[in-house]
Amino acid sequence: MTETAGTGALPVEGVPAARVLDEIRALRAGDRPTHGGRLFAYVYDPGVAGLDELAQAAYAESAHVNGLDPTAFPSLLAMENGLVGAAARLLGGGPGTSAPDVVGSVTSGGTESLILAVKAARDARPDLAEPRIVVPVSGHAAFAKAAHYLRVALDPVPVDPATLRPAVADVAAAIRPETVLVVASAPSYAHGVLDPVAEIAAVAAAAGVRCHVDACFGGWTLPWLRRLGAPVPPFDFAVPGVTSISVDLHKYAYAPKGVSVLLHRDPGLRAPQFFAYADWPGYTMVNPVIASTRSGGPIAAAYATLRHLGEDGYLRLAAVTRDAVAGLADAVRAVDGLRLLAEPESTVVCFTADDPALDLFVLVDELTARGWHTQPQLAYAGLPASVHLTVTAAVAPRVAEFGPALAEAATAARAAGPVVLPPELLALAGSLTPEALTPDLITGLAAGLGLGAGAAPDRMAAVNTLLQAAPVRLRERLLVEFVGLLQRPTW
Ligand SMILES: Cc1ncc(COP(=O)(O)O)c(C=O)c1O
Repeated sequence: MTETAGTGALPVEGVPAARVLDEIRALRAGDRPTHGGRLFAYVYDPGVAGLDELAQAAYAESAHVNGLDPTAFPSLLAMENGLVGAAARLLGGGPGTSAPDVVGSVTSGGTESLILAVKAARDARPDLAEPRIVVPVSGHAAFAKAAHYLRVALDPVPVDPATLRPAVADVAAAIRPETVLVVASAPSYAHGVLDPVAEIAAVAAAAGVRCHVDACFGGWTLPWLRRLGAPVPPFDFAVPGVTSISVDLHKYAYAPKGVSVLLHRDPGLRAPQFFAYADWPGYTMVNPVIASTRSGGPIAAAYATLRHLGEDGYLRLAAVTRDAVAGLADAVRAVDGLRLLAEPESTVVCFTADDPALDLFVLVDELTARGWHTQPQLAYAGLPASVHLTVTAAVAPRVAEFGPALAEAATAARAAGPVVLPPELLALAGSLTPEALTPDLITGLAAGLGLGAGAAPDRMAAVNTLLQAAPVRLRERLLVEFVGLLQRPTW
């Protein structure tokens, strides 16, 4: 073993550039494929030739620019303002609309946008000792993270198992005098359905409470789908009572990772989002977002992507994606025992299994074994386990292959039969409290499930079955422990 071997990041002697890149490429070979339309989560691929190269060049141009100080780097300010303007215009704001004073910030992603929406709402009400937010359970987990980080109480609202939407009356009933924010999704990530935004915004406004529309996922597709004739209900600033909207450019704007936009209807609503500090001997600091030093790379790459694709490019990609969604939904309908959990309203296809002989988690593994990477979702609060497909334009050329692959994987899953975990393990998962988990127990569980140090097993059905058998708090704890086992330094 030489001093430069392994994946330790700091060799004694520097490694030549070409070899470093080879090493990274070798590591990347073990990843899921980011391009090619066979990965239905995590990545957003338009399949447009030359776009990656453009984004990479733009990224490189601005990678060392620091968003900490917009007066030192006006290039970044100009690009950020351009991105915010584009997002605002797409989402019903800007000159000539009912939201002419809309402003916004570029953040690092959907989670940061949501945390900041919650922070702005919380800090607008310093009179409240215990601020609260109302979030349908189908709302993204990042709201729970925001509530946790910011010490804001979370009031979840159930969703109807048939429509996967919250009842407006339940949202209204959850609003209390301490509520600072009410949330609606357009659409929800898990199922791809739109909450009744207009009605939710109306009850929020009637109570004098802010309403955030989480359009992180759908904000850059729904407007194009509507222009193509889809019956998309109002969900943006055209809706009175909507005070803020988030839209991720690293999702359907097809920008490289690290860019989202958080919009507010007016500057007054945005003001409490900012943090300024002058009570120290260093530089005067004002941060619109969570990070202080920020690379210009993701912003420049997003700017280049938007300018290159343009409205006509996005419209074309949305049409291609819409057709892919329809084709994938047909493929699901064609397999006995599978059922769409929701009729697709956006760019998600989500299905469940009605037949106990067809184990969804085994099906997911069978698809993986055939090179199709889908996302399993555990049963939760009366909602069945499901499989999520995020559909992007690059999927379109693959749709014809997906149907036979899904049918074949379903046949294989039936033949393999459902996962059977030892009854004592299932009983343990069902009864254990997070506090009772000891390091030995965790190591034993992980080893039994094939979760070795530094790697996840090829087949995840047993892990998912065990997690599903556990109550929510234990699921969380097990996830933390399992990922903690993966995140170990290499030397
Ligand atoms: C609706 C919605 N909100 C928020 C997020 C969080 O975004 P990110 O993963 O960029 O933090 C996602 C991510 O999928 C999402 O779909």
